[in-house]
Amino acid sequence: MVLPLDPASPSRHALAQRSPHPRRIFVLGATGTIGRAAVHALVGRGHEVVCLVRPRAGPGGALAPDASVRLLAGATVRFGDVDDPASLARDGYRGERFDVLVSCLASRTGAPKDAWAIDYQAHVHALEAARNAGVSHVVLLSAICVQKPLLAFQHAKLAFEKLLIESGLRYSIVRPTAFFKSLSGQIERVKSGKPFLVFGDGNLTACKPISDADLAEYLAACLDDESRWNRVLPIGGPGTAVTPRQQGEYLFSLLGRPPRFRQVPVAMLDAIIGVLGVLGRIVPSLADKAEFARIGRYYATESMLVWNPATGTADAAATPSTGTETLFDYYERLMRGAALPARGDHAVF
Ligand SMILES: NC(=O)c1ccc[n+]([C@@H]2O[C@H](COP(=O)([O-])OP(=O)(O)OC[C@H]3O[C@@H](n4cnc5c(N)ncnc54)[C@H](OP(=O)(O)O)[C@@H]3O)[C@@H](O)[C@H]2O)c1
Repeated sequence: MVLPLDPASPSRHALAQRSPHPRRIFVLGATGTIGRAAVHALVGRGHEVVCLVRPRAGPGGALAPDASVRLLAGATVRFGDVDDPASLARDGYRGERFDVLVSCLASRTGAPKDAWAIDYQAHVHALEAARNAGVSHVVLLSAICVQKPLLAFQHAKLAFEKLLIESGLRYSIVRPTAFFKSLSGQIERVKSGKPFLVFGDGNLTACKPISDADLAEYLAACLDDESRWNRVLPIGGPGTAVTPRQQGEYLFSLLGRPPRFRQVPVAMLDAIIGVLGVLGRIVPSLADKAEFARIGRYYATESMLVWNPATGTADAAATPSTGTETLFDYYERLMRGAALPARGDHAVF
Protein backbone atom coordinates (compact mmCIF):
# COMPACT_ATOMS: atom_id res chain seq x y z
CA MET A 1 0.00 0.00 0.00
CA VAL A 2 1.34 3.47 -0.85
CA LEU A 3 0.11 6.92 0.15
CA PRO A 4 1.37 10.01 -1.70
CA LEU A 5 3.70 12.40 0.15
CA ASP A 6 1.70 15.15 1.81
CA PRO A 7 2.58 18.26 -0.24
CA ALA A 8 1.79 20.43 2.81
CA SER A 9 4.21 18.57 5.11
CA PRO A 10 7.16 20.68 6.24
CA SER A 11 9.70 19.06 3.98
CA ARG A 12 13.27 20.18 3.70
CA HIS A 13 13.59 17.36 1.20
CA ALA A 14 11.80 19.44 -1.38
CA LEU A 15 15.11 21.30 -1.41
CA ALA A 16 17.16 18.10 -1.60
CA GLN A 17 18.75 17.21 -4.86
CA ARG A 18 16.77 14.79 -7.01
CA SER A 19 18.86 11.73 -7.73
CA PRO A 20 20.20 11.62 -11.30
CA HIS A 21 19.64 7.84 -11.13
CA PRO A 22 16.36 7.01 -9.37
CA ARG A 23 16.57 3.49 -8.00
CA ARG A 24 14.33 0.80 -6.54
CA ILE A 25 15.15 0.62 -2.85
CA PHE A 26 14.21 -1.92 -0.20
CA VAL A 27 14.22 -0.43 3.31
CA LEU A 28 14.38 -2.21 6.67
CA GLY A 29 13.84 -0.48 10.01
CA ALA A 30 11.66 2.14 8.30
CA THR A 31 9.50 2.76 11.38
CA GLY A 32 12.47 3.71 13.60
CA THR A 33 13.64 7.23 14.36
CA ILE A 34 16.18 7.35 11.55
CA GLY A 35 14.37 4.87 9.32
CA ARG A 36 11.33 7.12 8.89
CA ALA A 37 13.54 10.14 8.17
CA ALA A 38 15.56 8.07 5.69
CA VAL A 39 12.43 6.96 3.84
CA HIS A 40 11.34 10.58 3.60
CA ALA A 41 14.75 11.61 2.25
CA LEU A 42 14.85 8.75 -0.29
CA VAL A 43 11.33 9.46 -1.54
CA GLY A 44 12.22 13.16 -1.74
CA ARG A 45 15.13 12.31 -4.01
CA GLY A 46 12.80 10.54 -6.42
CA HIS A 47 13.60 6.91 -5.58
CA GLU A 48 11.00 4.14 -5.54
CA VAL A 49 10.97 2.92 -1.95
CA VAL A 50 9.52 -0.32 -0.59
CA CYS A 51 9.55 -0.90 3.18
CA LEU A 52 9.02 -4.14 5.11
CA VAL A 53 7.60 -3.38 8.55
CA ARG A 54 5.97 -5.30 11.38
CA PRO A 55 2.16 -5.39 11.44
CA ARG A 56 2.45 -3.77 14.89
CA ALA A 57 5.44 -1.44 14.64
CA GLY A 58 6.94 1.39 16.69
CA PRO A 59 7.85 1.40 20.38
CA GLY A 60 5.56 -1.04 22.19
CA GLY A 61 3.82 -1.92 18.90
CA ALA A 62 1.98 1.42 18.96
CA LEU A 63 1.74 1.72 15.16
CA ALA A 64 -1.12 -0.18 13.52
CA PRO A 65 -0.70 -0.93 9.79
CA ASP A 66 -2.59 2.17 8.58
CA ALA A 67 -0.46 4.36 10.89
CA SER A 68 2.73 2.90 9.38
CA VAL A 69 1.40 3.59 5.88
CA ARG A 70 0.69 7.23 6.84
CA LEU A 71 4.08 7.57 8.54
CA LEU A 72 5.88 6.33 5.44
CA ALA A 73 3.85 8.29 2.88
CA GLY A 74 5.37 8.15 -0.58
CA ALA A 75 6.79 4.65 -0.01
CA THR A 76 5.18 1.26 -0.54
CA VAL A 77 4.65 -0.43 2.82
CA ARG A 78 4.60 -4.21 3.11
CA PHE A 79 4.02 -6.19 6.29
CA GLY A 80 6.03 -9.17 7.44
CA ASP A 81 8.64 -10.54 9.79
CA VAL A 82 12.25 -9.58 9.14
CA ASP A 83 13.31 -12.30 11.59
CA ASP A 84 11.99 -14.97 9.26
CA PRO A 85 13.78 -15.53 5.92
CA ALA A 86 10.59 -17.01 4.37
CA SER A 87 8.58 -13.89 5.27
CA LEU A 88 11.38 -11.62 4.08
CA ALA A 89 11.20 -13.28 0.62
CA ARG A 90 7.41 -13.82 0.44
CA ASP A 91 6.12 -10.60 2.08
CA GLY A 92 9.09 -8.31 1.49
CA TYR A 93 11.00 -8.84 -1.76
CA ARG A 94 8.15 -10.87 -3.41
CA GLY A 95 10.49 -12.10 -6.14
CA GLU A 96 10.97 -8.54 -7.46
CA ARG A 97 14.21 -6.82 -8.47
CA PHE A 98 15.76 -4.06 -6.33
CA ASP A 99 18.88 -1.94 -6.78
CA VAL A 100 19.66 -0.98 -3.18
CA LEU A 101 19.05 -2.19 0.38
CA VAL A 102 18.97 0.56 3.02
CA SER A 103 18.88 -0.79 6.56
CA CYS A 104 18.12 1.27 9.65
CA LEU A 105 17.05 -1.92 11.43
CA ALA A 106 18.35 -2.28 14.99
CA SER A 107 17.44 -3.98 18.24
CA ARG A 108 15.19 -1.62 20.19
CA THR A 109 16.60 -2.83 23.53
CA GLY A 110 20.25 -3.74 23.01
CA ALA A 111 19.65 -6.89 25.11
CA PRO A 112 22.19 -9.49 23.95
CA LYS A 113 19.71 -12.04 22.53
CA ASP A 114 17.71 -9.39 20.67
CA ALA A 115 20.87 -7.66 19.42
CA TRP A 116 22.25 -10.87 17.92
CA ALA A 117 18.83 -11.74 16.45
CA ILE A 118 18.30 -8.34 14.81
CA ASP A 119 21.59 -6.47 14.40
CA TYR A 120 23.30 -9.63 13.16
CA GLN A 121 21.08 -12.58 12.17
CA ALA A 122 18.20 -10.67 10.56
CA HIS A 123 20.77 -8.69 8.58
CA VAL A 124 22.48 -11.90 7.43
CA HIS A 125 19.16 -13.11 6.00
CA ALA A 126 18.40 -9.67 4.56
CA LEU A 127 21.77 -9.57 2.79
CA GLU A 128 21.20 -12.96 1.19
CA ALA A 129 17.68 -12.01 0.10
CA ALA A 130 18.98 -8.70 -1.23
CA ARG A 131 21.61 -10.45 -3.33
CA ASN A 132 18.93 -12.78 -4.75
CA ALA A 133 16.83 -9.71 -5.62
CA GLY A 134 19.68 -8.18 -7.63
CA VAL A 135 20.72 -5.56 -5.07
CA SER A 136 24.18 -4.19 -5.80
CA HIS A 137 24.56 -1.56 -3.02
CA VAL A 138 23.81 -1.84 0.71
CA VAL A 139 23.60 1.27 2.90
CA LEU A 140 23.81 0.23 6.54
CA LEU A 141 23.08 2.46 9.51
CA SER A 142 25.52 1.43 12.24
CA ALA A 143 26.90 3.43 15.19
CA ILE A 144 30.17 5.21 15.96
CA CYS A 145 30.42 3.35 19.27
CA VAL A 146 31.31 0.08 17.50
CA GLN A 147 34.83 1.46 17.10
CA LYS A 148 35.38 0.56 20.81
CA PRO A 149 33.20 -2.53 21.19
CA LEU A 150 32.41 -3.61 24.74
CA LEU A 151 28.69 -4.36 24.53
CA ALA A 152 26.75 -7.25 22.96
CA PHE A 153 24.92 -5.06 20.43
CA GLN A 154 28.22 -3.52 19.31
CA HIS A 155 29.74 -6.96 18.70
CA ALA A 156 26.61 -8.02 16.80
CA LYS A 157 26.76 -4.90 14.60
CA LEU A 158 30.49 -5.37 13.95
CA ALA A 159 30.00 -9.01 13.00
CA PHE A 160 27.50 -7.99 10.33
CA GLU A 161 29.60 -5.05 9.16
CA LYS A 162 32.45 -7.54 8.53
CA LEU A 163 30.16 -9.87 6.59
CA LEU A 164 28.87 -6.98 4.47
CA ILE A 165 32.37 -5.70 3.73
CA GLU A 166 33.39 -9.21 2.63
CA SER A 167 30.18 -9.76 0.61
CA GLY A 168 31.49 -8.30 -2.63
CA LEU A 169 28.48 -5.97 -2.83
CA ARG A 170 29.00 -2.21 -2.79
CA TYR A 171 28.55 -0.95 0.77
CA SER A 172 28.24 2.31 2.68
CA ILE A 173 28.44 1.70 6.42
CA VAL A 174 27.36 4.87 8.20
CA ARG A 175 28.43 5.22 11.84
CA PRO A 176 26.76 8.30 13.30
CA THR A 177 27.49 10.00 16.61
CA ALA A 178 24.68 10.76 19.10
CA PHE A 179 21.08 11.42 18.01
CA PHE A 180 19.17 14.39 19.38
CA LYS A 181 16.57 12.12 21.04
CA SER A 182 19.31 10.56 23.17
CA LEU A 183 20.37 14.00 24.47
CA SER A 184 16.96 15.44 25.29
CA GLY A 185 15.86 13.27 28.19
CA GLN A 186 16.26 15.94 30.86
CA ILE A 187 14.28 18.79 29.35
CA GLU A 188 11.16 18.15 31.41
CA ARG A 189 13.07 17.77 34.69
CA VAL A 190 15.02 20.99 34.09
CA LYS A 191 11.84 22.85 33.12
CA SER A 192 10.21 21.66 36.34
CA GLY A 193 13.01 23.20 38.41
CA LYS A 194 15.17 20.14 39.02
CA PRO A 195 18.95 20.10 38.50
CA PHE A 196 20.55 18.63 35.38
CA LEU A 197 22.12 15.23 36.14
CA VAL A 198 25.68 14.59 34.97
CA PHE A 199 28.15 11.79 35.47
CA GLY A 200 31.36 12.99 37.08
CA ASP A 201 31.73 16.72 36.48
CA GLY A 202 29.76 16.58 33.24
CA ASN A 203 32.85 16.83 31.08
CA LEU A 204 33.76 13.14 30.91
CA THR A 205 32.45 12.84 27.36
CA ALA A 206 31.62 14.89 24.27
CA CYS A 207 29.81 14.30 21.02
CA LYS A 208 28.85 16.04 17.79
CA PRO A 209 25.09 15.43 17.80
CA ILE A 210 23.36 14.84 14.47
CA SER A 211 19.70 15.49 13.64
CA ASP A 212 17.46 12.78 12.22
CA ALA A 213 16.92 14.75 8.99
CA ASP A 214 20.61 15.56 8.49
CA LEU A 215 21.55 11.91 9.02
CA ALA A 216 18.77 10.80 6.67
CA GLU A 217 20.07 13.13 3.95
CA TYR A 218 23.57 11.75 4.48
CA LEU A 219 22.29 8.16 4.14
CA ALA A 220 20.28 8.97 1.01
CA ALA A 221 23.25 10.75 -0.59
CA CYS A 222 25.36 7.58 -0.20
CA LEU A 223 23.61 6.23 -3.30
CA ASP A 224 25.02 8.83 -5.68
CA ASP A 225 28.19 10.00 -3.91
CA GLU A 226 30.99 7.69 -5.04
CA SER A 227 33.24 8.93 -2.22
CA ARG A 228 30.85 7.10 0.16
CA TRP A 229 31.04 3.75 -1.63
CA ASN A 230 32.86 0.83 -0.01
CA ARG A 231 33.62 2.95 3.00
CA VAL A 232 32.97 2.96 6.74
CA LEU A 233 31.73 6.48 7.39
CA PRO A 234 31.79 8.02 10.87
CA ILE A 235 29.60 11.13 10.84
CA GLY A 236 28.51 13.85 13.24
CA GLY A 237 26.38 16.96 13.02
CA PRO A 238 27.47 20.57 12.44
CA GLY A 239 29.37 22.71 14.93
CA THR A 240 31.77 21.86 17.71
CA ALA A 241 31.61 18.90 20.08
CA VAL A 242 29.48 19.42 23.19
CA THR A 243 29.74 17.92 26.67
CA PRO A 244 26.80 17.02 28.94
CA ARG A 245 27.65 20.04 31.13
CA GLN A 246 27.38 22.35 28.11
CA GLN A 247 24.01 20.78 27.23
CA GLY A 248 22.75 21.52 30.76
CA GLU A 249 24.15 25.06 30.71
CA TYR A 250 22.40 25.78 27.42
CA LEU A 251 19.04 24.46 28.66
CA PHE A 252 19.26 26.68 31.75
CA SER A 253 20.25 29.68 29.63
CA LEU A 254 17.13 29.13 27.46
CA LEU A 255 15.03 29.17 30.63
CA GLY A 256 16.83 32.29 31.91
CA ARG A 257 17.87 30.47 35.08
CA PRO A 258 21.29 29.91 36.68
CA PRO A 259 22.58 26.40 35.89
CA ARG A 260 22.15 23.72 38.55
CA PHE A 261 23.82 20.33 38.30
CA ARG A 262 23.74 17.16 40.36
CA GLN A 263 26.82 15.01 39.93
CA VAL A 264 26.30 11.24 39.78
CA PRO A 265 29.40 9.11 40.42
CA VAL A 266 30.23 6.57 37.71
CA ALA A 267 31.03 4.19 40.60
CA MET A 268 27.28 4.01 41.24
CA LEU A 269 26.78 2.40 37.82
CA ASP A 270 29.69 0.05 38.51
CA ALA A 271 28.02 -1.09 41.73
CA ILE A 272 24.70 -1.68 39.91
CA ILE A 273 26.46 -3.61 37.13
CA GLY A 274 28.29 -5.74 39.73
CA VAL A 275 25.13 -6.66 41.67
CA LEU A 276 22.98 -7.31 38.56
CA GLY A 277 25.82 -9.25 36.95
CA VAL A 278 25.96 -11.68 39.88
CA LEU A 279 22.17 -11.99 40.23
CA GLY A 280 21.84 -12.36 36.45
CA ARG A 281 23.61 -15.72 36.66
CA ILE A 282 20.58 -16.98 38.58
CA VAL A 283 17.73 -14.87 37.09
CA PRO A 284 18.16 -14.44 33.31
CA SER A 285 16.02 -11.25 33.13
CA LEU A 286 18.51 -9.58 35.50
CA ALA A 287 21.33 -10.44 33.08
CA ASP A 288 19.58 -8.18 30.53
CA LYS A 289 19.27 -5.45 33.16
CA ALA A 290 23.01 -5.77 33.85
CA GLU A 291 23.62 -5.24 30.12
CA PHE A 292 21.37 -2.14 30.13
CA ALA A 293 23.44 -0.77 33.04
CA ARG A 294 26.62 -1.52 31.04
CA ILE A 295 25.13 0.37 28.09
CA GLY A 296 24.40 3.29 30.42
CA ARG A 297 27.95 3.22 31.78
CA TYR A 298 29.37 3.10 28.27
CA TYR A 299 27.54 6.27 27.21
CA ALA A 300 28.37 7.94 30.53
CA THR A 301 32.08 7.48 29.98
CA GLU A 302 32.77 7.21 26.24
CA SER A 303 32.72 10.14 23.83
CA MET A 304 30.78 9.66 20.59
CA LEU A 305 33.67 10.95 18.46
CA VAL A 306 36.22 9.29 16.19
CA TRP A 307 38.76 7.44 18.30
CA ASN A 308 42.37 8.34 17.58
CA PRO A 309 44.46 5.25 18.37
CA ALA A 310 47.72 7.22 18.08
CA THR A 311 46.81 9.61 20.90
CA GLY A 312 44.40 7.28 22.72
CA THR A 313 41.76 10.02 22.72
CA ALA A 314 38.38 10.78 21.18
CA ASP A 315 39.07 13.32 18.48
CA ALA A 316 36.44 15.97 17.67
CA ALA A 317 38.50 17.42 14.80
CA ALA A 318 38.77 13.98 13.16
CA THR A 319 34.98 13.45 13.35
CA PRO A 320 33.40 14.58 10.06
CA SER A 321 30.38 16.88 10.19
CA THR A 322 27.32 17.14 7.99
CA GLY A 323 24.03 18.98 7.96
CA THR A 324 22.68 22.24 9.31
CA GLU A 325 20.75 21.71 12.54
CA THR A 326 22.59 21.81 15.88
CA LEU A 327 21.46 20.25 19.13
CA PHE A 328 21.03 23.72 20.57
CA ASP A 329 18.71 24.72 17.66
CA TYR A 330 16.72 21.62 18.55
CA TYR A 331 16.61 22.49 22.26
CA GLU A 332 15.23 25.90 21.30
CA ARG A 333 12.48 24.23 19.26
CA LEU A 334 11.61 21.91 22.15
CA MET A 335 11.51 24.83 24.59
CA ARG A 336 9.11 26.61 22.23
CA GLY A 337 6.80 23.60 22.54
CA ALA A 338 7.82 21.16 19.78
CA ALA A 339 6.95 17.56 20.69
CA LEU A 340 9.52 15.56 22.64
CA PRO A 341 10.62 12.47 20.71
CA ALA A 342 10.25 8.89 21.93
CA ARG A 343 13.77 8.22 23.16
CA GLY A 344 13.98 4.43 23.02
CA ASP A 345 15.57 2.04 25.41
CA HIS A 346 19.16 3.20 25.23
CA ALA A 347 18.49 6.45 27.09
CA VAL A 348 20.43 6.88 30.32
CA PHE A 349 18.50 9.82 31.83
N1 LIG B 1 20.47 6.73 19.77
C1 LIG B 1 21.63 7.23 19.38
O1 LIG B 1 22.08 8.29 19.84
C2 LIG B 1 22.41 6.51 18.31
C3 LIG B 1 23.61 7.08 17.90
C4 LIG B 1 24.33 6.47 16.87
C5 LIG B 1 23.85 5.32 16.28
N2 LIG B 1 22.69 4.78 16.72
C6 LIG B 1 22.25 3.55 16.03
O2 LIG B 1 21.27 3.90 15.05
C7 LIG B 1 20.48 2.75 14.77
C8 LIG B 1 19.02 3.12 14.61
O3 LIG B 1 18.59 3.89 15.67
P1 LIG B 1 17.10 4.39 15.78
O4 LIG B 1 17.05 5.27 16.98
O5 LIG B 1 16.59 4.88 14.48
O6 LIG B 1 16.38 2.98 16.12
P2 LIG B 1 14.89 2.73 16.57
O7 LIG B 1 14.11 4.00 16.58
O8 LIG B 1 14.95 1.92 17.81
O9 LIG B 1 14.31 1.83 15.35
C9 LIG B 1 14.69 0.49 15.18
C10 LIG B 1 14.02 -0.04 13.93
O10 LIG B 1 14.31 -1.45 13.85
C11 LIG B 1 13.08 -2.18 13.85
N3 LIG B 1 13.14 -3.42 14.65
C12 LIG B 1 13.72 -3.60 15.85
N4 LIG B 1 13.52 -4.86 16.26
C13 LIG B 1 12.77 -5.48 15.30
C14 LIG B 1 12.25 -6.79 15.15
N5 LIG B 1 12.40 -7.74 16.07
N6 LIG B 1 11.53 -7.07 14.03
C15 LIG B 1 11.33 -6.11 13.08
N7 LIG B 1 11.82 -4.86 13.16
C16 LIG B 1 12.53 -4.55 14.26
C17 LIG B 1 12.06 -1.27 14.51
O11 LIG B 1 10.77 -1.69 14.09
P3 LIG B 1 9.49 -1.48 15.03
O12 LIG B 1 9.07 -0.05 14.80
O13 LIG B 1 8.53 -2.48 14.51
O14 LIG B 1 9.91 -1.73 16.44
C18 LIG B 1 12.49 0.08 13.97
O15 LIG B 1 12.00 0.24 12.66
C19 LIG B 1 20.79 1.77 15.87
O16 LIG B 1 21.64 0.82 15.27
C20 LIG B 1 21.56 2.54 16.90
O17 LIG B 1 22.50 1.73 17.56
C21 LIG B 1 21.95 5.34 17.70
